[in-house]
Amino acid sequence: MGSYRLTVNGREHHVDVPEGTSLLEVLRNDIGDKSPKFGCGLVQCGACFVLIDGHPTPACDTPVEYVRGEVTTLAGLGRPDAMHPVQSAFLELQAGQCGYCIAGIIMSAAALLRDNPRPTRDDVSEALQRNLCRCGTHLRFVDAVLAAAGSASHSSTEPTPQAGSPT
Ligand code: FES
Ligand code: FES
Repeated sequence: MGSYRLTVNGREHHVDVPEGTSLLEVLRNDIGDKSPKFGCGLVQCGACFVLIDGHPTPACDTPVEYVRGEVTTLAGLGRPDAMHPVQSAFLELQAGQCGYCIAGIIMSAAALLRDNPRPTRDDVSEALQRNLCRCGTHLRFVDAVLAAAGSASHSSTEPTPQAGSPT
C-alpha cells in the first residue's frame, strides 16, 4: 500500500492504494471522476486518455506512483456554462454517436489545439490516431475539431446518409 498525492483538475487529492494501481482506477474509484473511460486497458483505444501537464496519456497504463505533473480529465476541461471550444463544437455538430470514446478523443483534440491552434485536416487525423471509435464517427470528430479551431475547412467528407439508411 502506498500513499500518493495527485493534482487533478486543479485540486489536490491524497489516495492510499496498492502500488501499481492505475491512474484510471484511482480517478474513477478513489477520486470519483468517471469521465475517463475504461476501454481496452491495453493502450489500444484511447478511451481513458487524460492530460498530464497537457500531454494525452493513457490512464489505464499509468501506475499512480509514476504520475508527475497536473492531471486534467474531461470533467476538468470545461464546465457546462464555460465549455472548452472542442466540447462546444462536439455538442453543436452532434459529433458523437454512443459517446464512449469521446472523453479520450476530446482530450487528444484539446492537446492538439493548444500546441497547434490552426491544424489542417491531416494534423487532426494524426492527433486522433491513437483514439479508436467503434461507431466509426472519426470524420465527424475531425470536422468538430476543425470547427473548434475556427478553420475555414471543416465541411465533412463523410457521405450524407440517405433517408432510411442505417446511421
Ligand atoms: S482503456 Fe486505456 S487505451 Fe484503452
Ligand atoms: S461514438 Fe461510439 S465509440 Fe465513438
